[in-house]
Amino acid sequence: MGMNPKQLVGEAAAAHVKDGMIVGLGTGSTAYFAILKIGEMVKNGLKIKGVPTSKQTEELATTLGIPLLPINEVKKIDLTIDGADEFDAHKNLIKGGGAALLREKIIASVTDYYIIITDASKQSEVLGSFALPVEVTPFAKEITLMQLKALGCEATFRKKGGDLLVTDNQNYIADCKFERIPNPVELNLKINQIPGVVENGLFTEMADLIISEDGKGNLIQIS
Ligand code: 5RP
Repeated sequence: MGMNPKQLVGEAAAAHVKDGMIVGLGTGSTAYFAILKIGEMVKNGLKIKGVPTSKQTEELATTLGIPLLPINEVKKIDLTIDGADEFDAHKNLIKGGGAALLREKIIASVTDYYIIITDASKQSEVLGSFALPVEVTPFAKEITLMQLKALGCEATFRKKGGDLLVTDNQNYIADCKFERIPNPVELNLKINQIPGVVENGLFTEMADLIISEDGKGNLIQIS
């Protein structure tokens, strides 16, 4: 049996990390393998500083001994490696399956080279298979949900256990199922115009490289 596909793409992305870099560390089960590899490289002498995209990743990186840079000392990030829930051939992404989209998007926005690690099962011709996660401020959450639905989706707040899921930023996640998202650039802007929306999981014109796996152990790169 070959290597776990998530490990394969994770390690391929980690190979881009070089001495002296400030590195954004993504969230999720695929980013996990990249961070694991980076931890190993740090143990072997690599000098980098990491910027975690979630509390979960912060804990993992700390356990692995990866030095971290406090977010308010960050001016620019050389390289970020993160996962995605859905992507298209134009490198548009849906993210936020792990509820970390706000920190992920802030970190992506100051990143020079943004690598997404994923697998072929998450590729679509047109985005919309995965319900789009939208981070919503708790105040008047039902008004915000109504305004999201008015954009043409079915929307529900994500739950964890019996309660509403609360993000690292003390907000909620509305999962918005659109039939198709033919114009993600436009939808991203429309959603972010709703006052109660903090941020949404459409990442357009951000990814520089997608490293994917074809289901048979082969790497696919979209740049
Ligand atoms: C978290 C994310 C993750 O990158 C996304 O959910 C992919 O996770 P996984 O690699 O576990 O499938 O956007 O907010």
